[in-house]
Amino acid sequence: MKNIVRWLRRALLVAAALSATLAAQARTLEEVQKDGKIIIATEGQFAPFNFFQGTKLSGFEVELAELVAKKMGLAVEWKALGFDALLAGLRQDRWDLVIASHGITEERAKAVTFTRPHYCSGGQVVAMDAAIRTGADLAGKVVAVQTGTTYLESVKKLPGIKEVKNFPKDTDARSALLSGRVDAWVSDRFVVKQSFASAPNAGLKVGDMVFIEQIAAAVAKGNSTLAAGYNKALAEVMADGSYAALSTRYFGEDVRCK
Ligand code: ARG
Repeated sequence: MKNIVRWLRRALLVAAALSATLAAQARTLEEVQKDGKIIIATEGQFAPFNFFQGTKLSGFEVELAELVAKKMGLAVEWKALGFDALLAGLRQDRWDLVIASHGITEERAKAVTFTRPHYCSGGQVVAMDAAIRTGADLAGKVVAVQTGTTYLESVKKLPGIKEVKNFPKDTDARSALLSGRVDAWVSDRFVVKQSFASAPNAGLKVGDMVFIEQIAAAVAKGNSTLAAGYNKALAEVMADGSYAALSTRYFGEDVRCK
């Protein structure tokens, strides 16, 4: 009996070590090409960038990634997960690429490799009270943001904030504002624009941008061949007019970084 237990324990250790080494191995561009299919993860709760239209994953980033993959000669297998799981999954090699409106930050760049940016944007203040417009106006206020975002990081740094409440989904942070549980919500300027347009009578007052950022996709840290293949295809999509057409359809303007 003791021997069996000892043997089982050893087998488990070997299996764990083996899966750890396998997991650390991100698929190179060549490997993905051989497979013919790239696995891309997103959130699906951040309209108009990535969201569900019924059961169908849709949005600017979803359509853009499909265009880029097509240029790379690849089909896309989509995965939709909580925002917090996305970059972590790259490290475990659960998918090849993440596209979910991540701002390029030094902190994140320690853990993943960012591609070239696919749009430029920033965090914007939204409140129900028109007197709350700027970063300075947030002093003494309770502010809602999505967990794990650059909005959380930047709002935390503003002087005199009373409390930052964070929510797993950005839509829950918005709901907290709409129901009066917080004084303000900070989110992406285009997400805010869409929220306002889809419910113009909800009473949202759109304030200033508190910071700007470059938004990019990410691959596993050091997966340079895949990043290069993606960057080349993205540049082609940006040059041949298909990016401009897609961007205009979603935003009425070209949102690429200038
Ligand atoms: N741009 C922000 C960041 O980099 C928010 C991203 C939120 N994305 C999402 N799919 N909910 O943290």
